[in-house]
Amino acid sequence: MTQDEMKRQAAEAALAYVRGGVIGVGTGSTVNHFIDFLARIKGRIDGAVSSSEASTQRLQALDIPVFDLNSVGGLSLYVDGADEANQRLELIKGGGGALTREKIVAAASEQFVCIADESKLVEVLGHFPLPVEVIPMARSYVARELAKLGGNPVWRENVVTDNGNVILDVEGLAIQQPKELEQRVNNIAGVVTVGLFALRGADVLILGSVKGAREVMPIS
Ligand code: A5P
Repeated sequence: MTQDEMKRQAAEAALAYVRGGVIGVGTGSTVNHFIDFLARIKGRIDGAVSSSEASTQRLQALDIPVFDLNSVGGLSLYVDGADEANQRLELIKGGGGALTREKIVAAASEQFVCIADESKLVEVLGHFPLPVEVIPMARSYVARELAKLGGNPVWRENVVTDNGNVILDVEGLAIQQPKELEQRVNNIAGVVTVGLFALRGADVLILGSVKGAREVMPIS
């Protein structure tokens, strides 16, 4: 079974959490499968709030109405992928550059269902470079501050986010205390969003695997 087939399995299993109303939809190749499945049951939902221009286009192409978050209030459900997840359901996200809107929609949602293939489950977060969205004029300053935290920040050149900002990918981290690191990076002037989702992690993690989709029970 390919990695893409495992992503597809996880995406299909997430449909069980869709109970109508307006739902939050994330970004990435796993979520693209979810959007395709969602189109099959679109009569059961009012529409979606999207976390990126790319997902908005895919949703609209499938005739799923897309709403501004400001017009819908809180959301009951958010479905999104991840670049890494640990057993506490703390995540690294932002490989696709959509981390800021993803964090906003996750924060505004009662339940966050994360979908991924099983390769994303790790013991310690940080093998995947940690994305940090930064105001362009602060890029060098923030990079120096991130280096003090022990990582090696690399500018994702030629990438501008949906919000007009730049991304630094921090390599070489072994993140033992994700919540603390999230707060420290959040406090650096010029940082818009860090791609650590630990203070508000996932509530449910569905992994596609060779044995089918399975849910990971969070350990505390
Ligand atoms: C987008 O910015 C990311 O947070 C994605 O959710 C993450 O990169 C997972 O992407 P895939 O589903 O393509 O692996």
